[in-house]
Amino acid sequence: MDKFIIDGGVPLSGEIEVQTAKNAALPIIAACILTEDPVIIENCPRLRDIDAMLDIMRHLGCSAEFVGNDLHVCCRNISLNVINSDLTGKLRSSIFILGSILSRCRRAYISHPGGCEIGLRPIDLHISGLKSLAVGIADEYGVICCDGSKMRGGVINLDFASVGATENLMMAGALLDGDTVIVNAAREPEIVDLADFINAMGGKVVGAGESVIRVTGVKRLHGCSYRPIPDRICAATFFAAVAATGGEIAVKNVVPEHVFGITERLKKMGVKLYIGHGGTVRVVAEGRPRPLHKLETNVYPAFPTDAQPQFCAVLSRATGSSIVVENLFENRFGYTAELSKMGAAITVKDRVAVVRGVPVLHGAVLGALDLRGGAALVIAALSAEGRSVITGVEHIDRGYEYIERTLASVGAKIRRVDHT
Ligand code: UD1
Repeated sequence: MDKFIIDGGVPLSGEIEVQTAKNAALPIIAACILTEDPVIIENCPRLRDIDAMLDIMRHLGCSAEFVGNDLHVCCRNISLNVINSDLTGKLRSSIFILGSILSRCRRAYISHPGGCEIGLRPIDLHISGLKSLAVGIADEYGVICCDGSKMRGGVINLDFASVGATENLMMAGALLDGDTVIVNAAREPEIVDLADFINAMGGKVVGAGESVIRVTGVKRLHGCSYRPIPDRICAATFFAAVAATGGEIAVKNVVPEHVFGITERLKKMGVKLYIGHGGTVRVVAEGRPRPLHKLETNVYPAFPTDAQPQFCAVLSRATGSSIVVENLFENRFGYTAELSKMGAAITVKDRVAVVRGVPVLHGAVLGALDLRGGAALVIAALSAEGRSVITGVEHIDRGYEYIERTLASVGAKIRRVDHT
C-alpha cells in the first residue's frame, strides 16, 4: 500500500485538467449491459472504483478493455453469475448494476453491498422501486435474488431523491414494455449524463435533470461512442486546494453550472474565480480564507456532500468559525479526527461540525479512511507547515486519477512512496 509524503506551505500555480466524472462513468459502464453491441466510453478515468466495476462486468461475461484512454465494452454474452460479496464489497454502488441486468436478462443475483465508511447506505429505495416494476425479490442468505419475468413499466415515487436508485430505475426501464416514471428523481448532472448515454444508444428517456423522469422502453438498444461529463467533485477538490494554499491555477474541463453551488461558497470565502471560454475556471486565492456562516450539504443543486470534507479542510484555517452541516451521510466527519492531529479545532456532534479557524496547521502522520476524507487530508497537508505523511492512499485512488501527479504539476511538493 502506498503513502503520500507532502511538504506543505507551497502556493499552487499553473494549469490542471479535470478528469472524466467517476460518478458518471460508473453507471454508464453498468448501462452497457443494456446492449449486445460494442460501446466505447471515451476518456474513461483510470480509478480503483472503475476497476471494481469492470471486475463485476467481466464476472458477468462482458469484455472490457482500455485502448489508450478509451474503454471498450462489449456485453454480447451475459452469464447470470451471482455477484458475490467479494465484488460488491469493493464497490458499494455496485447495487445499481441490478437495473441493467434485469432490463436485459429479467433475472439477477447480487450480494448485499453492506455498509461503508461514511454511513450505512441502505438499498430500500432501489428494492421498492424495482418491486414497482413487478420484479419479484427474495433475500436468500444475503443474496438478493431478483425475478423480472413479469417486469413492465410503472410509476415509482421515491421517498428520497437517491442518485443510485434513480440511475438503477432508469436502466431498469430502458428495455421494458411501457413507460417507467420516476417521481422525486435525483437531479444531479450525472443523472442527465446517464440519460444522454441511454438516448445515444437509441433509448427514450425524457425529464432527466428534473424531478420527474419518464423512460419509454424500447425493444433494442444499439452501441455507441460516448464521452461522459467532467468530474465536478475533482474540480471542487482542486479549487479547494488553491483556496487552502493560496496561488493561482487554471482548472480546465469544467462545466461551470455543475459547480455553481461550489463556486458561490468559494467567493464567500474570499477566493476569486474567473470563468473563461471552453470550460476553464481561473482560481486565485491569497491569505487565509474567510469563514462560512453555514455550509450545508444537500442534493443537487445544493452544496455536494462529496466536497464537504475538502471544504472543511480549507475552513480549518479560516479567519473565524464556520458551521458545517452534513445532511446526506450520517458518518462523514471521520477525517476531522485526523485534521485535529494537525492542530485543527473542529468539534463534531452528530451531523454538525463547528470549525474554528486556526492560523496554522502543522504537518503530521495521517490516515485516509475514505475517498473524500482522504482528499481533505491532502488539502490540509498542502497548506500545513512542515511534512505530512498520509497512509490509506488506496481510498484516494478510488476517485482521483494520480492526484499526486496532478498536484505536483502545479507546484505541490507531494510524492507517492511504496508503504510496505
Ligand atoms: C451517489 C454518489 C456519491 C454521493 C451520493 C450523494 C455514485 C457512484 N456515488 O451515491 O458519491 O455521495 O450519490 O450525492 O454516484 N439512501 C437510502 N436508501 C436507498 C438509497 C439511498 O436511505 O435505497 C440514502 C443514503 O443512505 C444516503 C442518501 O440516501 O443517506 C443519499 O444516497 P444516494 O443519493 O443513493 O447516494 P449514492 O447513489 O449511494
